[in-house]
Amino acid sequence: MGFMDKTRIGIICGGRSAEHEVSLQSAKNVIDALDNGKFEPVLIGIDKSGLWSLYNQQDFLLNSDDPQKIRLNDNGVKLLVHPHSRSFRRLDTNADFTIDAAFPLLHGPFGEDGTVQGLLKLMGIPFAGADVSGSAVGMDKDIMKRLLRDAGIRIGKFAVINADNEPPSYKEAVCQVGEPFFVKPANMGSSIGVQKVHNENEWTLSIKEAFKYDTKVILEENITGREIECAVLDGAELIVSPPGEVKPLHEFYSYEAKYIDKAGALLEIPAALSGEKSQEIKELAVKTFKTLCCAIFARVDFFLTKDGEVFVNEINTIPGFTKISMYPKLLDQCGIGYRELITRIIESTILRFEKEAKLKTSYY
Ligand SMILES: Nc1ncnc2c1ncn2[C@@H]1O[C@H](COP(=O)(O)OP(=O)(O)O)[C@@H](O)[C@H]1O
Ligand SMILES: [Mg+2]
Repeated sequence: MGFMDKTRIGIICGGRSAEHEVSLQSAKNVIDALDNGKFEPVLIGIDKSGLWSLYNQQDFLLNSDDPQKIRLNDNGVKLLVHPHSRSFRRLDTNADFTIDAAFPLLHGPFGEDGTVQGLLKLMGIPFAGADVSGSAVGMDKDIMKRLLRDAGIRIGKFAVINADNEPPSYKEAVCQVGEPFFVKPANMGSSIGVQKVHNENEWTLSIKEAFKYDTKVILEENITGREIECAVLDGAELIVSPPGEVKPLHEFYSYEAKYIDKAGALLEIPAALSGEKSQEIKELAVKTFKTLCCAIFARVDFFLTKDGEVFVNEINTIPGFTKISMYPKLLDQCGIGYRELITRIIESTILRFEKEAKLKTSYY
């Protein structure tokens, strides 16, 4: 890179996921905040059919202010991806170009689950966030819970059902996880397919709905408690934010409460907790981050019961990244503003890649 060259950051957004729209909003915010003295954004959008295109920063979105109607513009240049060559080919001019690092802002399957991370790894492009295995583990609520259980981290009771097998009866399900309980696709996010089940009829409908999104479905004990979240940022130093609280105004923190209903939830930052409880949760956030093989950033979500018991609910390896999302807001509490956060993430990304590049890849 020449003296004046900026680091070219591939912002990868959209994706073949039910969280496509959320991703576009995160991307828009990251691009707006990128330190353009240091970085040049290269906008790569993946449409819902999985096609990758190159976009202009100015007009890559349509209906950008509407969380339901926001979408990628039709003016992208289709791209061909070369594994092993670190480059992308524009299909309009056939010119190849490369990027110095990628910031995948993709939520859910085909983006947050290790698939895109694997592709970038093959291409030799540094990418922000968890590595392939950490991404895959963080996406799969079944595997995630088994690792947490193994590490002695408190989690609620759960059971797993596969689409190939006959689902348990309502009675059997209640016997395993109590009543009411939660039904979720194992691999999803943004509360898509997440349902609270109170009776047999809801049970029947819920499995149908959850199996629309995944072939593996998880049942979980209902944990009545406050929803507490912590941001972890790992780089030159490991930073864990004070806990924040989500106060959903719906029965639970559903997709509607998260993204559609503007008054669907209140965020309280920092959460009103004793210093001791706050410390306990922060330590648990770090332990969870490490147990689940995460890197660079993640948000860890908890339930805190009336009795003061802390349960880990889940980890998000690519948390919502809009300016008003919990993750950036929590780090703001540590004196790390949105722009500074993005800069630190990119710098850690490149540093990690350089370390890994020094590893031997053959015995001789
Ligand atoms: N076991 C549970 N007990 C109580 N509430 C739950 C439970 N599981 C999920 N919820 C509610 O549903 C929301 C979404 O579930 P979550 O597992 O976090 O899925 P996602 O990965 O889609 O965010 C949570 O924020 C919470 O409000
Ligand atoms: Mg969640």
